[in-house]
Parts: sequence; structure tokens; C-alpha cells
Amino acid sequence: MSTTIYYGSVVNPVNLTSFQALPRCLLAVGATGCVEWLVEDVEDALVRETMGRMGCLDNVVIPLKETEFIMPGFIDTHTHAPQFRNIGSGQQYELLDWLSIVTFPTETKFADLDFARRTYSSVVRRIINNGTTTCCYYGTLHLEATKLLADIIKSYGQRAFVGKCNMDRNCPDYYVEPSAEASIDATESLISHIRSLDSNHTEEPLVQPILTPRFAISCSPPLLASLGKLVLSDSSLRIQTHISENESEIELTKELFPECPSYAHVYDSFGLLRSNTILAHAVHLEPHEMDLIAQRGAGISHCPTSNFNLSSGVAPVGEFLDRGIKVGLGTDVSGGYSPSILNSVQTASIAAKVVAMQAKGSKPTSGNFSDRQLSVATLLYLATLGGAEVCDLKERVGSFAPGKSFDALIVNVSDKGGNPCIWGTGEEEKGKAALEGMLERLLFCGDDRNIARVFIQGKLVGGTEF
Ligand code: GUN
Ligand code: ZN
Repeated sequence: MSTTIYYGSVVNPVNLTSFQALPRCLLAVGATGCVEWLVEDVEDALVRETMGRMGCLDNVVIPLKETEFIMPGFIDTHTHAPQFRNIGSGQQYELLDWLSIVTFPTETKFADLDFARRTYSSVVRRIINNGTTTCCYYGTLHLEATKLLADIIKSYGQRAFVGKCNMDRNCPDYYVEPSAEASIDATESLISHIRSLDSNHTEEPLVQPILTPRFAISCSPPLLASLGKLVLSDSSLRIQTHISENESEIELTKELFPECPSYAHVYDSFGLLRSNTILAHAVHLEPHEMDLIAQRGAGISHCPTSNFNLSSGVAPVGEFLDRGIKVGLGTDVSGGYSPSILNSVQTASIAAKVVAMQAKGSKPTSGNFSDRQLSVATLLYLATLGGAEVCDLKERVGSFAPGKSFDALIVNVSDKGGNPCIWGTGEEEKGKAALEGMLERLLFCGDDRNIARVFIQGKLVGGTEF
């Protein structure tokens, strides 16, 4: 058996100078679906015996082909399930027009549960098969359709956060919640519903609710205040929203909240900026907002494909990392046109290069990341462990540290049946160099054809071989 394991047990991006490649390794996953054992250079018989003694009898020992490797699953920290209906269209608009002309008319259709069921079943399947093992989903404002989304995710075995949009103002009459009270009532019902899916589970459930105030513009102060009250009593409840994506959006936000010194302060003033808040975009933050976000421990979902596609701008990811702000990647469908985190990796790389090119000739910064391109190791980090940190899940996923859940991808970079642009014979290089070469090519020209098997919590749930 020819076995190679790649594992991403990386602690922070600063230490990511090289990959940890273990030739001839086997991986044991215990009955709980957690990683119990990582071994190197040992005989199979011995491994099996040891794992047997450890009680990992239903372990998974994963044999890998020459052109396969194993890596932690991707984490998508921001996407909109209903907007998959619009994927690849609407790129001629900027954010506020795009919402009213393209997005809201589509989202309103999710009042129809048959439509919602058909759409969400194919969306979730597609996201899993792209290698996303944890996903942060926005639904629509509809309670029933968003419950259905959570049910479908649960039945497919994906790890996810699911929220229904809170939006009680500045939206069209046909697509707006009637009051702050109605919005809060529906939110509380969704939380109860999702939590009831796993009521006898002792561990953190796979599918969890997340508060989803769409953005400050669409939420009245009483609604934001009630959401702030709701999270105050529940420290485990994550929050997701949009911030500083587009200049017109920022201008309108400042007009609506003149008492707040910045966009980030709007969320903070309602108690919605904390260590499990996920802020999507953050393209145009001012330095004092970054200070506040770092201080609160909130995370940023970097959505570079969407930021380019809707002409929003280029987020300074290197600066976020140098400031110690948590950063993960988001596909932001359908602002973004791809459901694959691999696409986000590629665009994140280009975005960092744009920042670096624009900074050429200016005074060098003292940090490791600001105004520089992102290394392959940092890109891998953003797609996995960085996302786990943003989701407040770093103890559970994002790498193969013992005790974490086995959320993993078996990736095949062979030219037979997979994506043919990736790899030739598999004989170009050996050992660590080969592994690093395979990883880089996967990140830059891979797609769902290369995702052979997807495991979540130790269970096979997707991939081309599923
Ligand atoms: N801001 C408020 N709603 C949205 C949305 O659906 N997509 C994006 N990209 N930005 C938003
Ligand atoms: Zn979004």
C-alpha cells in the first residue's frame, strides 16, 4: 500500500513556512469521528494492533494512491444558499443596485417551499462535493424555508451554521419583514428548530443556528437592539453579517447611524461585535475599525471573488493578519460566481498581489503579510484553520490535531479521470516536494473533479467517489 498523508496541523499563519508532510502514514479515526492517532513510518500490522488496543476498532485507515493526498476540509465562512439560483449573472451591478435588481426578486421566491426544497437540496450537495466540510449559510427572510435548509444540511451530514436574514427596513415592500418583533419571533423559532435537530447530542452539534442581521442598512435600531439582547444571554450563538463592502453602502450606513463613529461601531453599539461574530467583506475599513474588530476578537470572511465581481474593491487581508484579526475565506455566492473555496483561494492570491503591486515603491511595512503576496501555506491556512478560527471552531476542525473531528478531503490530482491540467505522471518529484507541488497545483488549478472523497466527523458524505 502506498500511503501519504498531508496534514495541516498548523498553529498560525506566521509559522507556515513549510508543510508538514508525512510519508507512509496512516490515520486512525475513532468511533466518535475524532482524530485519535496519527502515525508515521510504522508497519501496518503494528498500527492496526495499536489502534485495536486503543479501542479504535472501527477506525478508518485510509490507503492513498500515488496521486492522492489527504487534507483538512475547506471552510466557507460566508455564502447565500438562495442566491445559487443567480450564480454567474448580475455582475454588471454594484452592491445596492445588485440587491434590488438581482437578489431580492430571487430571494422572495423562497416563500414557495417546493422551490426552496429543490434548490437547497442541489445547493448543499454541490457545496459538499466542492470539498466544503463546514459552511456558514445565509437563508432568506423566510422562517419555513430556512428550517428546510437546516433539515437538508443535517440529512446530508454537513457541518454548518444556518441563519435566516433579519431585515425590517430599507428593502422592497414585497421582501421585508413587517416589524422588529416579527423578525425576532421568527429568529427564535429557527434557533429552537435547529437545536431540536440534535437535542440528545452531547457534543457540539453539526448544524447550529447563527444570528443573521443582513447588514446595518436593512435592520432598524430596535431590531438590532433585540438581537443584541438575544446574544447577551447565549454566548455560543454566532453572529454573521456584512460590513464595509461598498462605498455607497458605507455612506448610507453612516447617514442611518450618525451617532456611530464608524460602520463597525454600529454593530458594536448593539453588542453584536464579539469573538464569534463573522464579518463578511471588510473591504474599506478604517484603521480604528480594525482596532475595534481586533479588540473584540471578531473574524473577517474574505470574499475576494465577490469583491472583484461586484466591483466592491480589494480587502487588505495581509494587514488584517498583521493586526491579529482572524481571517477565513468566503465564496459569497452569488456576489461570487463559484461555490468552491478553491476559487476563493485563487482570487485571494490575486487580490493580495494587486495590493502588493499597488504598494510597490511605498515605505515597507513591518508586518509579515501587509502589502505582500500570500504564500501557498497562508492560502491553505485561510481555507482551513483560518476559517475554523473565524467560526469559533478551532478546537474542533481546521486541522488534524488529535481530538479534532475528522473533517477531511481525499484529493486526487491524477490526470486519469480527474482534472487533467493538474498533474502528469506523479513521478516528477518525490516525498515532501511532490506533496507541496500537488498542493500548490490543487489550490491554483483544482476544482471539484479533484475532490475524490469528503469526510465529515469521520463519515463519508461526498466527492466524486461517493
Ligand atoms: N449586503 C447585504 N446583503 C448582501 C448580499 O446578499 N450579498 C452581498 N454580497 N452583500 C450584501
Ligand atoms: Zn454575502
